[in-house]
Amino acid sequence: MLYGLVADVHANLQAFEVAMKHLKAAGVDKILNMGDLVGYGANPAECVTMAREQVHMVTIAGNHDRQVAGDIDPRMRLTATKALEWTRDNLSPANCRHLAGLSDGQIVDDRFVLVHGSLVERDAYILTAGEVKRNLECLIRDFPKIKICMFGHTHVPMLISTRGVFADLKATRSFQLEPGEIYMINPGSVGQPRDRCPLSSFAIFDTENLTVTFIRKPYDIAGAQRAIVQAGLPEKFARRLSAGV
Ligand SMILES: [Fe+2]
Repeated sequence: MLYGLVADVHANLQAFEVAMKHLKAAGVDKILNMGDLVGYGANPAECVTMAREQVHMVTIAGNHDRQVAGDIDPRMRLTATKALEWTRDNLSPANCRHLAGLSDGQIVDDRFVLVHGSLVERDAYILTAGEVKRNLECLIRDFPKIKICMFGHTHVPMLISTRGVFADLKATRSFQLEPGEIYMINPGSVGQPRDRCPLSSFAIFDTENLTVTFIRKPYDIAGAQRAIVQAGLPEKFARRLSAGV
């Protein structure tokens, strides 16, 4: 079975369309979406609707999705909060309800555990060696029957195993996985990569061959930037897309 992996779409319709087209052409059976459909980008309604229309997509909530749905985090920066208010104003009640109904985490097909931030703490970022260790220990201890955790939130594609961490994934690359080993996989961000590579980032997990392929694809960055500026959203949200930060 082929699983498409996406996360952190962030209302970037131009990037989301490229990712979905590629995953469908690759023949994926199911798509796992690790959250943050909205926030930052100019097309939240189109992105939420597109996700809702997918029959074989499992979507969990990210911190931005939760905030738009009304679960406000006082720690969020003012510009981000303003953008979330704009997002809320530009979503239909049905799309807001959909975001409000997403769960924080989910086990899929008795095989994968999905979280947005981390297994240990909902909105923590898995970027440091300490967080990697804490999460691997949590996966082993709390999910003894599950070998693989999918996550997002950092916007940096990453493959973690007990043997080490791969995080330099600026070009498409496949990995052969070991049976019985545990892994944590972040497909990177579809709509706002932050690994200094502006290409859209997503992945395919092949359960038969036990491979994971991280995919980097160009998309219409200028179009996404124009849409952000035209919507009156902060210009820095547009600028960062071409820098991949
Ligand atoms: Fe995000």
